[in-house]
Amino acid sequence: MKMLIFGGSGRTGQIMRNTAISAGWQVLAPTHAECDLLSPDAVSREVLESGADAVVNCAAISGLEACLDDPLSAHMVNAVAPATMALACRHTGARFVHLSTDYVLEGHKPGLRDESCKCKPANTYGESKREGELQVAEALPSALILRVSWVCGNPAKPAFVESMLSAALQGKALSAIGDKYSLPTDAQDIARVVLELLPTEAAGIIHTCSGGEPLSWHDCVSLALQTAVADGALAGMPQVARTALAAATFFRAERPRHTAMNNARLTQKLGIYMPSAGETLQNVTRRYLQSLKGS
Ligand SMILES: NC(=O)c1ccc[n+]([C@@H]2O[C@H](COP(=O)([O-])OP(=O)(O)OC[C@H]3O[C@@H](n4cnc5c(N)ncnc54)[C@H](OP(=O)(O)O)[C@@H]3O)[C@@H](O)[C@H]2O)c1
Repeated sequence: MKMLIFGGSGRTGQIMRNTAISAGWQVLAPTHAECDLLSPDAVSREVLESGADAVVNCAAISGLEACLDDPLSAHMVNAVAPATMALACRHTGARFVHLSTDYVLEGHKPGLRDESCKCKPANTYGESKREGELQVAEALPSALILRVSWVCGNPAKPAFVESMLSAALQGKALSAIGDKYSLPTDAQDIARVVLELLPTEAAGIIHTCSGGEPLSWHDCVSLALQTAVADGALAGMPQVARTALAAATFFRAERPRHTAMNNARLTQKLGIYMPSAGETLQNVTRRYLQSLKGS
């Protein structure tokens, strides 16, 4: 069985690629230089000529400020390219999996959001990703659209949690925003979920994140540090200053405050295991600490 992965060099794409290869898939993963997602022709050709049984889109312009600065490229890569992939998969019959984000959701009120909740992106990134969701669903109703959030767990591409662990190990002063909420997703869980869903009839939007109540970045960092202390990597629990989103003036694009997702469709209706957020942060921390021993 052959899988075509777009964005195979990214945080999630690297893990998707390794996981699929370990599971026995033949993987094609064109680089950015080999297939620029700004070109619908190149995207279409790649899918049509790949002979792939499954196409997984882990590519995106995922930086909020990058999208703000170049909305046309954000639109092309985050919306037009996935729609083109979906259309090409309709032609070839390949199963299509597209990754989306909690940032498509309205982020004003606290709580957990399921797949029926209102979408109202707060920024250009979220707008382009929502457009991608809508166009993929229209082009190929059987496509899987997995909304993920706060992706971590690839030590080679450190996310916020890994960066804070690194700073703590170097004895640096730590601070984290304490009034913005979501749930972390381990890239290894994303890859596993993709492989488990591929042979099923599941389609449409699926919230794919850890379980539990919404966490702030400060909560996530504290849980990761607790594991590092318990495992002996840190002598004691470092202080983490709690900061406010409104004070993060280095963010130019607006961030939604409350986008934690309820993963019940995935876990209860589709019967796919997802760890709690606490377990995810423990797994991600241990993987990161382990990677340092090997480096
Ligand atoms: N990271 C998060 O916390 C997060 C949260 C919610 C949702 N998501 C979603 O999850 C998915 C994976 O995110 P990620 O963080 O793993 O992504 P990432 O690390 O930012 O990687 C993005 C990938 O897309 C590729 N790419 C970007 N522009 C391209 C272009 N014009 N042509 C070809 N390739 C291009 C990049 O290749 P180059 O590096 O070579 O340019 C890279 O391989 C995305 O759909 C993202 O929106 C991520």
